[in-house]
Amino acid sequence: MQKKRILSGMRPTGKLHLGHYVGALENWVKLQDDFDSFHLIADYHALTTNLKTDSIYDDSIDMLIDWLAVGLDPSKSPMFRQSQIKEHTELHLIFSMLISVNRLERNPTLKDQVRDLHIDKVVYGHLGYPVLQTADILLYKGDFVPVGEDQVANVEISREIARRFNNQYGKVFPLPEPLLTKFSRLPGLDGVAKMSKSLNNTILLSDDPETVKKKLKKAVTDPQKIRKGDPGRPEICLVYSYHTKFNPDESDSIAAGCRSGELGCFDCKMKCAEKISKFLEPIIEKRNYYKKNIDEVKDVLSDGEKRGKKIAEATMNEVRNKMKLG
Ligand code: TRP
Repeated sequence: MQKKRILSGMRPTGKLHLGHYVGALENWVKLQDDFDSFHLIADYHALTTNLKTDSIYDDSIDMLIDWLAVGLDPSKSPMFRQSQIKEHTELHLIFSMLISVNRLERNPTLKDQVRDLHIDKVVYGHLGYPVLQTADILLYKGDFVPVGEDQVANVEISREIARRFNNQYGKVFPLPEPLLTKFSRLPGLDGVAKMSKSLNNTILLSDDPETVKKKLKKAVTDPQKIRKGDPGRPEICLVYSYHTKFNPDESDSIAAGCRSGELGCFDCKMKCAEKISKFLEPIIEKRNYYKKNIDEVKDVLSDGEKRGKKIAEATMNEVRNKMKLG
């Protein structure tokens, strides 16, 4: 039986962090065996919030290295840049006729972004973010889109556009469905709900053991636990939540030690740093390999772009035929 298809993407923000791993990459790696997967570097989408393009190529390569280092397999899953496959822009234009401005203005993902990034003037392209994302998904006829909770509203817009196209011109597209990532967000080192580059509260997948230790030393813990001996509340401590993820075998005894006061924050943090670094060790090793063999990384891109392009062209031919634009 033909495998169902997945299309997933990320904006090229450079080196990735543990939050990306837990929220997306871990899932992508698991899914690549059961689905036909495509991974997109959304470099045009990056322009919606940052017009500077000087580092966009290097950031894309850095992100791709992290993808490869965590185990995405380019022989199974083509990886490519959106900007190199022109069909994305073409399909985006057609799709932009199939959704109202009003509907896009109501998009909660956009509203959240405007609020979080303090954007005072939304550009036309930003309003159309989910329309371009729909072109990304449907060019490859993606059945599923593995995303976090915050992207569900965008995928709903994709379904609406797919439905409208199919009704208007004849069936070409599946109605894509979100595939929710189970693990919720990983909190940042400052205790803020989300690990995020712009909040500067991350542990990078490329951080060496010394850096991980240094970062964890500064991590915010239960404010009521001031010194060893004080009882703590693991359920509100971000270090404990890292333990549950990266040190599951010991997390019960860590929680008990924290509650009784027997385990101090310093020791708990150092144990956590050790476990995280142990987890990162093979990733960093692979990362270093790709850093040294950068031509291999570039080959992954050019191969992915060739494979992506073929499918994108076939879909656009179908679209043009249905629309009598052929
Ligand atoms: N909007 C996604 C994000 O910010 C990135 C993205 C672009 C994407 N195109 C996509 C995700 C297509 C899934 C499918 O993370």
